[in-house]
Amino acid sequence: MKQNFFQYQAQTTPHPLAMEISHAKGSYIYNTKNKAYLDFVAGVSACPLGHNHPKVLNAIKEQLDKYMHVMVYGEYIQKPAIDLSKLLAKKLPESLDKTYLTNSGTEAVEGALKLAKRATGRSEIIAANKGYHGNTMGSMSVMGFEERKQAFRPLLPDVKFIDFNSEKDLSQITEKTACIILETIQGGAGFIEPKNEYLHKVRQRCNETGTLLILDEIQPGIGRTGKLFGFEHYNCIPDILVTGKALGGGMPIGAFTASSKLMDLLMDNPKLGHITTFGGHPVIAASALATLKEITESDLMEQALEKEKLIRKLLTHPLIKEIRGKGLMLAIITDSAKIANALILNSQDQGLILFWLLFEQKAVRITPPLTISNDEIIKGCSVIIGVLNSIQQ
Ligand SMILES: Cc1ncc(COP(=O)(O)O)c(C=O)c1O
Repeated sequence: MKQNFFQYQAQTTPHPLAMEISHAKGSYIYNTKNKAYLDFVAGVSACPLGHNHPKVLNAIKEQLDKYMHVMVYGEYIQKPAIDLSKLLAKKLPESLDKTYLTNSGTEAVEGALKLAKRATGRSEIIAANKGYHGNTMGSMSVMGFEERKQAFRPLLPDVKFIDFNSEKDLSQITEKTACIILETIQGGAGFIEPKNEYLHKVRQRCNETGTLLILDEIQPGIGRTGKLFGFEHYNCIPDILVTGKALGGGMPIGAFTASSKLMDLLMDNPKLGHITTFGGHPVIAASALATLKEITESDLMEQALEKEKLIRKLLTHPLIKEIRGKGLMLAIITDSAKIANALILNSQDQGLILFWLLFEQKAVRITPPLTISNDEIIKGCSVIIGVLNSIQQ
């Protein structure tokens, strides 16, 4: 398989981890030699219930037996997409009551940006330095990391960048600004939480200027931080909420949610304001619905906060400078990219999956499935400490 992977499948780094996968179950991924790897990454936060969760599998199988794709987005009435959108509305503040389902996170971001322009009639967009929102042209335009976008310019015009957590920079939001897009907790930047009521202050400035606030919850959303959505920690409700990753329970999805009043603009002037063939796909919506039900009906969110405490207690070591993040969205901050690389690669050799963050090379991601057990946490953390000891020598 490895030779064909390099020969036929497009690569985006010269050094992919290139693990040959056989199957996955619970908190483990197995390679073709049947070696078990404990998963501390969960497909980069996209597998909140671990691998092949029985309730998710059943929902997918039941839907497969009924129908798959039957029509483009929004024309036919299909139960999985309706039930999913309705459950999201039930779990969100009243002002976020209508959802558009997409195929990926970046596509949901595109839809959200378009909606903000359409609703305000303004073109200026504000985003944050080191923010990440996806890799299509619009999302990349609001990515705050020049090195990775230079080659693809020109991108969207009229995009300004501010520093996340800088209250002073909020004066850049004006009556000209259609929207500001922020991650609730910055992911690629190194799991940076909003501080000193920052998001509340952003909300107030948006209210003053008639600017729409888009919060990207593609990483923190769907229970990972101990609440269903990260913004619930920070005294701030967005105008448009973007979700993805974990929502699909291991299937490809994205979603943007806003008030009916805003969302209904997509059907008028022009009509078909955002279209997609596969968005709201019945099998994927069934998987997402089963996932969202399990997360909201179980105590997995409370457990996430307890598991955070356990991880923080176990991961003390001179090479760990800090552990950032909330719940099961955690990052080990080391002194150098060299230490972070060694930790990730040596842990993989010892059967523990860790991963990098996009823009912070000294960081190591710990985003296990929410279903991970305490024993599995203890096992994984002891691998981390062992590897750090060997690096230190
Ligand atoms: C915060 C954030 N926004 C958007 C995206 C893009 O989502 P997708 O890869 O599904 O297009 C990601 C993906 O990593 C993300 O972390």
